[in-house]
Amino acid sequence: MSQTDQITITRPDDWHLHLRDGEALKSVIGHSAAQFRRAIIMPNLRPPVTTTEQAREYRQRIMAAVPAGSGFEPLMTLYLTDNTTPDEIIKAGESGIVYGVKLYPAGATTNSDAGVTDLAKCMKTLETMQAHGIPLLMHGEVTDPEVDIFDREAVFIDRVLLPLRKSLPELKIVFEHITTKEAAQYVAQAEGPIGATITAHHLLFNRNVIFTGGICPHYYCLPVLKREENRKALVQAATGHNNERFFIGTDSAPHAKDLKENACGCAGCYTALHALELYARVFDDHHALDRFEAFASLNGAKFYGLSPNSEKITLVRQRWQIPEQLPFGEETVVPLMAGGILEWKNA
Ligand code: DOR
Ligand code: ZN
Repeated sequence: MSQTDQITITRPDDWHLHLRDGEALKSVIGHSAAQFRRAIIMPNLRPPVTTTEQAREYRQRIMAAVPAGSGFEPLMTLYLTDNTTPDEIIKAGESGIVYGVKLYPAGATTNSDAGVTDLAKCMKTLETMQAHGIPLLMHGEVTDPEVDIFDREAVFIDRVLLPLRKSLPELKIVFEHITTKEAAQYVAQAEGPIGATITAHHLLFNRNVIFTGGICPHYYCLPVLKREENRKALVQAATGHNNERFFIGTDSAPHAKDLKENACGCAGCYTALHALELYARVFDDHHALDRFEAFASLNGAKFYGLSPNSEKITLVRQRWQIPEQLPFGEETVVPLMAGGILEWKNA
C-alpha cells in the first residue's frame, strides 16, 4: 500500500461528546470507544449534571456501559448554572474526574433551560475556575431573539466572549463547535489560553444541505450550519499549518429518529460511528493528511494539559457504506450521511 492509502496516528480523543444516559448510552458508547481513547462528556442530561457528585455517578454509569477491554476514558464536565458556587468548583478541581465546566446560555440549545441567564451572575465562580485552571467550555451563541440565528455566534464574540476575556484573561476557554469565520479568526489570533473544537459536519457541509430537495432534519444542529465562506474558514483553521489551537470535538448528539423527523425536530447530528472517517475525508480532500494527527490526537490533549495517548490507530482507504440507521435504546438513530459512501475506514 502506498502511504496515502493508509494512515497511522496516535489514538485520538473526542473533546466534545454527548453520550446521553440509560439505554441510549448503552447503544452509542461502543461507537465512541472504537474510535477514541478519551472524550469530554457533555453534561446536558435531564436533569443536568451540575455537581461533582452527579458527575461521579454519571461517570460510573458510563464506565458500566463501556465495552470490555476498550480502555475508553470519560472526562466529565459540570453544567454551569446561575447558582454554581465557587465551592462546587473547588470540589470539581479536587475530584480528579472533572475536566471542564460547560456554559450553555439559557435557551441556546437542547436541555439548556437550566443554563446561565447572565454571565455576570457567575463571576465569582468563573474567577475560581481561573484560579484552579479549570476550563470553561462555551456554547458560544447569544440567545437574544432579535439576533438572526445565523449571526448568534459572531455576536456572542463581541457581547460575551471579549468582555469575559478582558475580565478574566487567564481563564482557560474552549470555544466549542465553532461555525463561523469570525470565531476561527478570533481563536487563531487571540492572546492567552483559548482553543476551539470543530465538528466533522461543520467542516463537510454548509447550510444548503439542510434544504436540498426538501427539509433534511438530520443535518440540523446547533449552532446551525452556516454559509460556504464560513465552512472554508473552518477547514483552513483545522487543516492549516498553524492549527495548534483547533482540535476534534465531534459534538455527536444522538436523538431518536422520530424526534428528528418531527414537526419540531431536535438539534444534533450523530457522528460517533464514523467521526474519524468523516474528518479524514476533509483532510484528504485538502491534501492535509500530514496534519490530521495534530488536529485529531495532539492539540486537544496539549490544551487540556494531558499527555497524548500511547496507542496508535490506523485508517485505511476503503470504501464503505454508512448504515441507514442504528439501534438507539428501544428506538433508532440516523447517522450523519446515512446511506452515503466514505473512502476511509478505521481498520
Ligand atoms: O445540535 C446540538 N445538539 N447542539 C447542542 O448544543 C446540543 C446537542 C444535543 O445535546 O443534542
Ligand atoms: Zn454539544
